[in-house]
Amino acid sequence: MLETTRRRTLKAMGVGGATAVAGCATKAPSAAESQRQRETMEQQSKPKTDRVAADPTDIPGPITRSEPAEVDVTLRAEEVTAEIEPGVTFDFMTYNGQIPGPFVRVRQGDTVNLTFENPDSNVMPHNVDFHAAAGPGGGAEATMTAPGETTHLRFKATYPGAYIYHCAVPNMDMHISAGMFGIILVEPPAGLPEVDQEIYLGQHEIYTDGQAGQEGHHSFDVASMKKEEPTYVLMNGEKYAFTPDVYGPAATLETGQKARVFFVTGGPNLTSSFHPIGNVWEEYYPQGSLSTDPQKHIQTSPVVPGSTAIATMSFPVPGDFKIVDHALTRVARRGCMAVVAAEGEENPDVFDPNPQSNASA
Ligand code: CU
Ligand code: CU
Repeated sequence: MLETTRRRTLKAMGVGGATAVAGCATKAPSAAESQRQRETMEQQSKPKTDRVAADPTDIPGPITRSEPAEVDVTLRAEEVTAEIEPGVTFDFMTYNGQIPGPFVRVRQGDTVNLTFENPDSNVMPHNVDFHAAAGPGGGAEATMTAPGETTHLRFKATYPGAYIYHCAVPNMDMHISAGMFGIILVEPPAGLPEVDQEIYLGQHEIYTDGQAGQEGHHSFDVASMKKEEPTYVLMNGEKYAFTPDVYGPAATLETGQKARVFFVTGGPNLTSSFHPIGNVWEEYYPQGSLSTDPQKHIQTSPVVPGSTAIATMSFPVPGDFKIVDHALTRVARRGCMAVVAAEGEENPDVFDPNPQSNASA
């Protein structure tokens, strides 16, 4: 009965039927449909929120269980208006009001019981496609949810690694661009090596009808998305969100400590050239794969849309270490950067910014 109602509602919204919602491989919506959805969004003003940038340290702790378990996960689609940078607003689409969406952490062999809510304050249908789920659309069709409705999905996390999840409605490129993506980490049974701090960052790009920095409300611009010419390229949904001038560094460690970064490229279109300035990725797990040994001492590595990386960094000397997309126009002009800070004693043997004065001292 409920199921029938749901399908009828979705059909009325033009998004019902298996062929229309097959996850990553769905049929593209027509230009008219995209435009209609955009107008529908703009007719309703969204709840305003001060911040969409997810706290990079808000990550569930390592799993200590030695047996598989059932893990309940609730994701909620939230359409909100927030600032990309001071004075520039945009209608974001998010999971749980944050970008990237909540970090989900399970163990290989666990069963995920997902509840997906689409509150009736939203105007769009949404869903979730988990790359960690082995099944059609990664759950996209099963979780296709109209405003005011709730769906459920159950899947076993059969392979380890860090996987993206993302919205996969017919206008999936728009929904991902507006913020609907995150990471589910499936830990191998033996877990991950211990580190001092874990950090969660997600890159995506936003296509608007304005220029970067142009004050006022920016509307989503389908034409520039089709040309793949974004206005902003961001980490965690806001310009330079985790730098000292905005919310502060993504994390602050002591020299000698080690951080693990979980990084996801939502895209929808741009590949990140993932790089730590003044450092290298000490251990680098391409594609977030935990089934192979990590690469060592990697400077810059592509993280393609719809994928992740797991990377560690150490801090022999103090300072601010910027994490960037090394396609640097995105850093200088489009807002893409985060900072990890290290505090502690200088170590001129490793790095000496002022050798002459140190030599004469
Ligand atoms: Cu996908
Ligand atoms: Cu969506």
